Amino acid sequence: MAQVKVVLDEAIGQVNPNIFGHFIEHLGRCVYEGIYVGPDSKIPNTRGLRNDVIDALRKIRPSVLRWPGGCFADDYHWKDGIGDPAKRPRTVNINWGYSIDTNAFGTHEFIDFCRLIGAEPYICANVGTGTPQEARDWIEYCNFPGDSSLARLRKANGSEEPFNVKYWGVGNELWGCGGSIPPGDYAIEVRRFASFMRDFGDVGIYKIACGPRGNDPCGVRRDWVLEFFERMQSQTLSDGCRGRVDGFALHYYTRGAGGGGDVDFSDHEYYWLLHAALVMERLIKQVRTAMDVYDPCRKVGLVIDEWGTWHPQAKGDSGLEQQNTMRDAVVAALHLDIFIRHADKVVMTNIAQMINVLQALILTQGEKMLLTPTYHVFDMYKQHQGGTSVRVLVDTPKAGSDGEDAIEVPQIAGSASLRDGELFLTLTNNSISDECEVQLELLGLSIDAATEVKIEQLASSGVSDHNTFDDPARIRPESKVTTWDKGIVVLPPHSVTAITVGLK
Ligand code: AHR
Repeated sequence: MAQVKVVLDEAIGQVNPNIFGHFIEHLGRCVYEGIYVGPDSKIPNTRGLRNDVIDALRKIRPSVLRWPGGCFADDYHWKDGIGDPAKRPRTVNINWGYSIDTNAFGTHEFIDFCRLIGAEPYICANVGTGTPQEARDWIEYCNFPGDSSLARLRKANGSEEPFNVKYWGVGNELWGCGGSIPPGDYAIEVRRFASFMRDFGDVGIYKIACGPRGNDPCGVRRDWVLEFFERMQSQTLSDGCRGRVDGFALHYYTRGAGGGGDVDFSDHEYYWLLHAALVMERLIKQVRTAMDVYDPCRKVGLVIDEWGTWHPQAKGDSGLEQQNTMRDAVVAALHLDIFIRHADKVVMTNIAQMINVLQALILTQGEKMLLTPTYHVFDMYKQHQGGTSVRVLVDTPKAGSDGEDAIEVPQIAGSASLRDGELFLTLTNNSISDECEVQLELLGLSIDAATEVKIEQLASSGVSDHNTFDDPARIRPESKVTTWDKGIVVLPPHSVTAITVGLK
């Protein structure tokens, strides 16, 4: 048996809804086919954007959506993607298979999609092959309410009203595909770019600098973070300074040959991958501790704008397509619980990627669409958005593999938040084979917990079970309403559970 104690009066911080953010890139079939099929497609669409995908996404309340990359962002020139689609240039996607991009999906289509699904847009500006002028102009085009030439151009292209884009990235992975720039030199670039990336309205734009590489073989390089902030100095921290940034973005993928394939993996490989997912918590602690050295008042938020599983056989450079099993669902839930436990520092995260690529929530095939187990986790967890994260103390058995290279993980993990008189508790059972009885206890407030309890559970007998186009609803959550009883819940192996308790 495991024990989970929720300390109701020990608040960690507000769960920023942007923790439940997403990412799309011009990569394989993510944008084209997955989202944009064009207005003349037989697939039902709104101005070229798939209706089935829009309807499914609205349901999970996607808070924020990052675009156009990824690596793609640092070779993207926004003016290629505006105006008459027939006249837009055909450009070569040098990052993802040298495919041709028709630029049919550009700024207006992205904003349209964000509005249709109810997400805030987050645009990553081009630092690698772009200029501060280009970044500055993109913001003016999007946000300026006045009568400038760029605002007139936006209006001529169909949008009288400004787009009011709040979130702007200052390049992507500058340590790698963004230009292989050392952290100190990148800090100078950030100061220069950020100085000209102005609000152009009263949006209160929020600028996000690229942070360290979580998948560095040596672990997060503390010196990378320190060198970046050392060179940013007051630019990062003082409110009045134009060169400052508001967010700092870590990337970490749960990846590596040790985890086996997307649907073919051994028990040992299952635990290897879960162990790799749990590394996220260590990385967050390392990065936030290093940030505290230069930013002790914690003005700069930690953003994790790429995370998720990246299985070894993800098809080639151009596609990165993979299936999504119950194991991916557990990995997604482990991450979201970690982010919620760090709600005092983590202000936004974006799973990679929303559709057809890497740890996708949705897969499409022609006119067919399916929701993956990861989609269901986001649906089940959405009630955390905007709640107050509270401390959860877990006393759990271990689970893991045996032998020389044995791996051990906690069998139970989770997070909790409070909102509108309800406690929302999410838990994973990380054992591949054993169910677990969990004794819940509520501490800190004088309440009678014996009110209604709603339990939603995502489980399946096989850990590699997944949804297919022939059997798209094989895995979906089941709900029941019960009473507090003695506070005991049973979690099936490799499962995700969301519990809502009415507090009186
Ligand atoms: O998400 C796929 C790629 O992974 C992104 O383009 C890049 O930023 C990261 O390395």
